[in-house]
Amino acid sequence: MTENASSIEIHLAFLHAQPSFASPPFSVTTTTAPGVDEADWQALLVGGGNSVAVDATSLVHRLYGPLCAMRNQGPCAVAHLAQSLDGRIATTCGISRWLSGEEDLLHTHRMRAIADAVVVGVNTILHDDPQLTVRLCSGDNPVRVILDPEHRLDGSQRVFRDGCAPTLLLVAADRIGAEHQWGQAEVIPVPRGQQGLDPFEIRRILALRRLSWLFVEGGGITVSRFLAAGALDRLQITVAPVILGSGRPSLVLPEIHDLTLSLRPRTRRFLLGDDTMIECDFAPSPHHR
Ligand SMILES: NC(=O)c1ccc[n+]([C@@H]2O[C@H](COP(=O)([O-])OP(=O)(O)OC[C@H]3O[C@@H](n4cnc5c(N)ncnc54)[C@H](OP(=O)(O)O)[C@@H]3O)[C@@H](O)[C@H]2O)c1
Repeated sequence: MTENASSIEIHLAFLHAQPSFASPPFSVTTTTAPGVDEADWQALLVGGGNSVAVDATSLVHRLYGPLCAMRNQGPCAVAHLAQSLDGRIATTCGISRWLSGEEDLLHTHRMRAIADAVVVGVNTILHDDPQLTVRLCSGDNPVRVILDPEHRLDGSQRVFRDGCAPTLLLVAADRIGAEHQWGQAEVIPVPRGQQGLDPFEIRRILALRRLSWLFVEGGGITVSRFLAAGALDRLQITVAPVILGSGRPSLVLPEIHDLTLSLRPRTRRFLLGDDTMIECDFAPSPHHR
């Protein structure tokens, strides 16, 4: 890969010759400034991922076209985590900025722009105080959904005060008093499941509000619970060439004792600057439906 002040070569390769992803590897060169392919991005948003509008030679269209098109196939949930080579998403004390590079950050904003709602766990709000808005590309802000079953957040965080996007605070039904608002956020009761809040119940409650395309942005516990429940359609892991040696784990799932029980989804791979993003597709193969 070549890199200088004005250009980054981004290679895009689909390693698995699965029918749904069968495409030859190819590479494109673009400038380092995030958003240089903004025109492609805007065309994709306008086309809504329809195949007639998707330009197969465009990196943006090839990465995001299939994700936009999922909107036509019913409710979906796509998660993303950026992790180190040794599987950490943050230091032990919770610092995660900026583990991955600016291309992955832009990617995260584009995923927000595609989504109806962005979902994060309470620890992410406590540690990062994120805005969860679309600022590095064009597109609408998603509704912000915070999973805080024990009602730990005090309302001082930005998502409760900045008015940038509608915000929903999902709290275990047994922890809610009379309050319907928390700062500017609407408080939504969710019945407890066997392990915290059932991700499918979360998806159902959000779908009733016409929030059908969900971007689960972290952290590790939140994404792990969605994955363990089988409630993710796709999972994107961006691996940064960094070793932390300690820190908060990425995915943690129930222990298995046999490799035949491991998950082996179909994948797509993208190089995002120095980082590698691997997208797992958990939908049944078209040949096994
Ligand atoms: N590298 C990345 O991609 C990335 C992305 C986001 C965040 N981060 C970093 O990751 C750290 C936070 O991640 P984390 O794994 O510690 O926590 P997290 O996923 O942000 O939040 C986990 C907490 O959210 C609640 N929660 C989430 N899903 C739930 C469910 N299905 N049912 C019930 N409760 C649920 C629980 O709260 P209770 O404990 O109150 O039950 C749980 O402990 C921060 O340091 C942040 O900076 C990194």
